Amino acid sequence: MQEMWKSFFSSGSFIPHGHCYLWQTKLVWLHVASDSIIALAYFSIPITLIYFISKREDLPFDWIFAMFGAFIVACGITHIFEVWTLWHPTYWLSGTMKAITAIISFATAILLVELIPQALALPSPAQLTSANQLLEAEIVERQLAESALQKAKDELEIRVEERTAELKRQTQQLAQTLSELQQTQSRLIQSEKMSSLGQLVAGVAHEINNPVNFIYGNIAPTRDYLNSLLELTDSYQENYPDPLPKVKEKLKDIDLDFIKKDLPKILVSIKTGADRIRDIVKSLRLFSRLDQADMKLADMHEGIESTLMILQNRLKPKPDSSGIQVIKEYGDLPKIECYPGQLNQVFMNIIANAIDALEEKPETPSIAASQADFRIIEISTKMLDSAWVEIRIANNGPGITESVIKQLFDPFFTTKPVGKGTGLGLSISYQIIRETHQGELLCISTPAKGTEFIIKIPISIKE
Ligand SMILES: Nc1ncnc2c1ncn2[C@@H]1O[C@H](COP(=O)(O)OP(=O)(O)O)[C@@H](O)[C@H]1O
Ligand SMILES: [Mg+2]
Repeated sequence: MQEMWKSFFSSGSFIPHGHCYLWQTKLVWLHVASDSIIALAYFSIPITLIYFISKREDLPFDWIFAMFGAFIVACGITHIFEVWTLWHPTYWLSGTMKAITAIISFATAILLVELIPQALALPSPAQLTSANQLLEAEIVERQLAESALQKAKDELEIRVEERTAELKRQTQQLAQTLSELQQTQSRLIQSEKMSSLGQLVAGVAHEINNPVNFIYGNIAPTRDYLNSLLELTDSYQENYPDPLPKVKEKLKDIDLDFIKKDLPKILVSIKTGADRIRDIVKSLRLFSRLDQADMKLADMHEGIESTLMILQNRLKPKPDSSGIQVIKEYGDLPKIECYPGQLNQVFMNIIANAIDALEEKPETPSIAASQADFRIIEISTKMLDSAWVEIRIANNGPGITESVIKQLFDPFFTTKPVGKGTGLGLSISYQIIRETHQGELLCISTPAKGTEFIIKIPISIKE
């Protein structure tokens, strides 16, 4: 074995290849140069191939490139041996190298043949380019479709938004119309109620006015005549100190001395009564200014007083209650340009509500009663500045809770039992103050302490 191995690497009894060229220097060097260059070229090609494969990771059939590489390197080595054997006749070694080259090249050739159908099945660059172009065209088409879709979606969204806004607007309009309708309805009901009340009051006032004036006007002459008659009886008594028995008896019967003393008192109380009726009639007439639709200058205090007068019977003490104390603190107010009948209606609503609230206040025994236990309505007026007046109407009733305050001025809002409350008083008052008189109506309340309504109105209404 060792022998065989040795002869494999030894030159044996062969003669070097250079002998075939008769050692002609030129021929020998021609072969040396040509074989060396071929070998160099063969060694450089696999390097290029390896570089190519390493850069193209997705290269199909990359193993065939490796086969090519091995085959070419083997070819290169055979050429090196061509040069070597010119001087060193190791023909077994060079022959074996050729045999290896033959195996690699043959295997490569067979595999290549088998590979061809598969390689042909790969798309050519032209096919790839056209497929690419088709794809690009499709992308452009899809992009166009997408942008058209987006545009349609945007338009749709805008339309939906517009519709929603429109709907919202319509709903708001409807809600507003509804509340306007409700207000108009409540105003109509209340004004109808007030106008019939006003007519009644005006009618009664007018009917009473004549007889009262009649009584009032006749009091003075009656007093004069009676005085004259009394003077006459005095004169008779002086001049006839001893009258006839019949006359004496009559004098005793009628008790002339008492009549003389009592008659002036009676006349005074008739006058007081007549005065009072005159005041009441005046209040009724003031209050019933409702039917005077025109704006005019009016005294606020007169309006408040006439309202209090009408509500008098609800304020005064009754067998089962101590009555309501009205404390007034009137400031110096000028006459105000307003609709007096409507303002009286406001005073009426607010004061009547205050009385209603106070009637709910529990009565305490009068011995232990402190100021806070009394039922009090406080009415104060003042000028806020040169253009505005303020009227405050407060009561120390049970007050109003937070949840009720929010709905106070809503039409038909009432906490009173059916038949007692209509829930219209404050909503009408609010309109009269806010809209007709361009003023403000506020309510401040502390539960268990009381409630205060504040009316602010300008002394003249802007057109
Ligand atoms: N001074 C007040 N104190 C307590 N609650 C009041 C007062 N004024 C008004 N309210 C409340 O406001 C509600 C609405 O009043 P209003 O509009 O006059 O209607 P009504 O008197 O018919 O109930 C009343 O039901 C009552 O609950
Ligand atoms: Mg009321």
